[in-house]
Amino acid sequence: MSVTRSGARMWAMAAADFGAELELVELPEPEPGPGELKVRLLAASVNPFDRKVVDGMFRGSGEHRFPLVPGTDGAGEVIGSGERIFGTFFHRPVGIGTYAEYVTVPASNALAPIPQGLDPAIAAALPTAGMTAVQLVEALGAAESVLIVGASGGVGSFAVQVARAAGKRVIPVGRGDSLVEADALIDLVSTDRSSFEANARYAPLAFNTNYVSSDAAQNFGMKGSRAALEHLAALVLAGDLEVPISRRLPLRGAVDVFAGRGPGKTVIIM
Ligand SMILES: NC(=O)c1ccc[n+]([C@@H]2O[C@H](COP(=O)([O-])OP(=O)(O)OC[C@H]3O[C@@H](n4cnc5c(N)ncnc54)[C@H](OP(=O)(O)O)[C@@H]3O)[C@@H](O)[C@H]2O)c1
Repeated sequence: MSVTRSGARMWAMAAADFGAELELVELPEPEPGPGELKVRLLAASVNPFDRKVVDGMFRGSGEHRFPLVPGTDGAGEVIGSGERIFGTFFHRPVGIGTYAEYVTVPASNALAPIPQGLDPAIAAALPTAGMTAVQLVEALGAAESVLIVGASGGVGSFAVQVARAAGKRVIPVGRGDSLVEADALIDLVSTDRSSFEANARYAPLAFNTNYVSSDAAQNFGMKGSRAALEHLAALVLAGDLEVPISRRLPLRGAVDVFAGRGPGKTVIIM
């Protein structure tokens, strides 16, 4: 991305430094580099990854731009073509994210057209959490029962539905709930190895999403693709996947976006 040639400016939620609170700032609109699209965002959704980026968890992994605009998932209109797309916008350098009126994104990212009839806010809520849920359930194979720890969150609320649709017996595990034995475990909560290992004792097949296991096969990483996004959108339009959105915040009111909680997803409306 280069600084805008037109001098046009936009509003964004951004952090001045690692660990700083988000604040509403006026920034130059990003301009696309070679192979990139510029998108006028209609909506963005909030993922725990966004906060990790702001907190500096990936500071050793490459350049970060400040003010740092977080936000991986979004939906918007491509400048030039007018096509409406949704998907994952994360790219490097880090900090040109979707909590903004405009974003740039490599055209090779996982992006797909927003089908007719799909609310852009719903589309923005789908990518990371939805693709993760579908791929986690695929990884369960023939397991007939599954514990889902963190079932009320973004990934969990999709995973519960997808696993049930696949005919599995789902045991949602919320705060304070006891675990029971099952064929498989999806642990969306543990952030240390010992917590995950304690949960994994309840199931012969176990996955976590926070890369805490010493067994690489248990560390699940989502792989984004256009086909996976199209699949999710088709499920929603067919009425086979509900998208629980607990909060819709206007961009200019999204200061406490990481603070509030609720089941399902938080979406920022531009
Ligand atoms: N590896 C990957 O490819 C990948 C992809 C997507 C997500 N992730 C990671 O997976 C994790 C979950 O993502 P998400 O989008 O689902 O997050 P989320 O929307 O914040 O949901 C987390 C859920 O876990 C619940 N929870 C917290 N502590 C709990 C406990 N001790 N017992 C039971 N439930 C508990 C939360 O409930 P409260 O609201 O009550 O706190 C919340 O409902 C995050 O760490 C995220 O970064 C990884």
